[in-house]
Amino acid sequence: MSDCKKMEMLQRYPCVSDLRELARKRIPHIAWEYLDCGTGDEHGIDRNLQRMSEVSLVPRFMLGELTPDLTTTLFGRRYNAPFGVSPVGLSGLMWPGTEHILAAMAAKYRIPYGLSTVATQTPETIGPIAGDMGWFQLYPPRENALRDDLLKRAKDNGFNTLVVTADVPLSSRRERTTRAGLRMPPKITPRFVYEALTHPSWTVHTLSAGLPRLRSLEKYAESKDLGALATFAGQSMGGTLSWDYLKEVRDIWDGPLVLKGVLHPDDADEAIAIGVEGIQVSNHGARQFDGAPGAIDSLPVVAERVNGRTAVLFDSGVRSGLDILRALALGADFVLLGRSFIWGVAALGSAGGDHTAEILMADLKVNMVNLGCETVEQVKQNDTVALGA
Ligand SMILES: Cc1cc2nc3c(=O)[nH]c(=O)nc-3n(C[C@H](O)[C@H](O)[C@H](O)COP(=O)(O)O)c2cc1C
Repeated sequence: MSDCKKMEMLQRYPCVSDLRELARKRIPHIAWEYLDCGTGDEHGIDRNLQRMSEVSLVPRFMLGELTPDLTTTLFGRRYNAPFGVSPVGLSGLMWPGTEHILAAMAAKYRIPYGLSTVATQTPETIGPIAGDMGWFQLYPPRENALRDDLLKRAKDNGFNTLVVTADVPLSSRRERTTRAGLRMPPKITPRFVYEALTHPSWTVHTLSAGLPRLRSLEKYAESKDLGALATFAGQSMGGTLSWDYLKEVRDIWDGPLVLKGVLHPDDADEAIAIGVEGIQVSNHGARQFDGAPGAIDSLPVVAERVNGRTAVLFDSGVRSGLDILRALALGADFVLLGRSFIWGVAALGSAGGDHTAEILMADLKVNMVNLGCETVEQVKQNDTVALGA
């Protein structure tokens, strides 16, 4: 994208919330509800956002001209910004080719892209596109042979960081998605046909790319049928995670290992004892347990306990550069975003990944300077941060 085009896009869609509104109009109801939903009565989504908005940072002035520098180092690797893309399963349902688009964006902007175990594309396809910016997310397979093979495929295809998701001991009910009629495989109902006709751009792209498939798992389930694969994923993954299992993964995975979904400081201690390099504070974007605290409330508690022994990563409820700044000031070394990037792609197709990164970088820079910081390190050392009461 030329600089002129970038400016024009930033004027038209300056915020992630603009992308969300556009995405809502561009994709069918079923895909929207799958992406947007939480679980239960969905108080958790609002809690994440509300508690995030209540974090205040007291700025310092009179510092002369400040030039913000977003670069940061994590696990010995240099990134152009302290944020990246959190893994999102079935991304291709929201917009065909989402994994390609976001992996290419990550390689270009030099920020990490997390590929989900239940993505619609394989590590073999996405790894080379992400280059050295690929992270792989593992839902723990019950069968060791399957697990080891998946990890080998990730490693062989350039994914350098493994993110093990802790916070799905059982699939949550996600009632809104069920109500919307999402079935595996998708059922062709009159509503489905109506939605396809009223979202022609999505439909044309989906028809040319083919219906979304859980491609990474097809090898093991020996099927390409989405229904069979969803059942296979449900039966063969999840519910198995324990500290012993994480120890096994630690032994197998030669590279940075992150435990994602930590909310309790004692869990951070256990993971550190096993030898992880990163603790990711997250409540899965409020999709798993509606009774969980706002993720941002858990961040300083966990960060204080970790106390520099590993990196602290954070996601859930991040919608802007300012939110990234808030999380850094509260103890995160690195911040991930799930829905925001998918809204970007659903809203703007192939330009959506880049534009989301542009929004976040611009907003982070301007807020860093307004806080009185030039570097990510200075933000992390900021001692004038307050969580709302
Ligand atoms: C549609 C959707 C699918 C997701 N799939 C996965 C997944 O496959 N693996 C995983 O670890 N987390 C998954 N997550 C959670 C995200 O990685 C991340 O924790 C969450 O989206 C962060 O909250 P945010 O959406 O408010 O940024 C998913 C989230 C969404 C919205």
